[in-house]
Amino acid sequence: MQIYVDSANLDDIKHAASLGILSGVTTNPSLLAKEDPSVDVRERILEIHRIVGGHCSVEVVSTDKDGMLREADEILEWFPQATIKIPMIADGLAATSELAKRNVPVNMTLIFSATQALAANNAGAAYVSVFLGRLDDIATPGIDVISDTREIWEKQGLESKILAASLRHPLHLLQVAKAGAHIATTPYKVIIQSLKHPLTDAGLDKFLADYHKMQAEIAELRKQA
Ligand code: G3P
Repeated sequence: MQIYVDSANLDDIKHAASLGILSGVTTNPSLLAKEDPSVDVRERILEIHRIVGGHCSVEVVSTDKDGMLREADEILEWFPQATIKIPMIADGLAATSELAKRNVPVNMTLIFSATQALAANNAGAAYVSVFLGRLDDIATPGIDVISDTREIWEKQGLESKILAASLRHPLHLLQVAKAGAHIATTPYKVIIQSLKHPLTDAGLDKFLADYHKMQAEIAELRKQA
């Protein structure tokens, strides 16, 4: 399963990218709105793309098909490798279908059911972003939607990538990997949390302490010789 970072924060993205485990980045208007408004959105996106290099999803904010297509063209002028993120609404499906005919990759977002995922796939989306955390927030198991989607994909031989989004903690990461998501887009904090294990830290402390103890003993023996 590939890992993308779900962020618009340059420091977090730089650090996550430096770990060598990232295949891409997803942004959305809410993530962009958390950052310094004095940095132009286009500049920020281009910088993010420069840092990560791989997949970079940029979301449109229009809610009508023509507006979405206009925005998609603007984003593709910024950088032609962009993946256009489009919401799962009727106009979004129509815009996705047009972009797919032009071989422009679309990440269809705000998907909360397997039937929405199927529609996004059929419209030609290259990625279907299924939101987990927001379903969990309303006492509906988000992981079931990923599992159902994966089951349908296997039975029907569908090819768009299942992108697990709205992840809140490392357990989500584990669950979506087991459920067969192709990609998980993950907040920076969750990436860092998922790498930590207290036994790794304790084990390293012990290795280093033993090494330094041995070095001290060697130095002592040399002194006595
Ligand atoms: O990028 C879409 C998604 O990952 C948002 O997550 O935490 O706002 O539900 P969240």
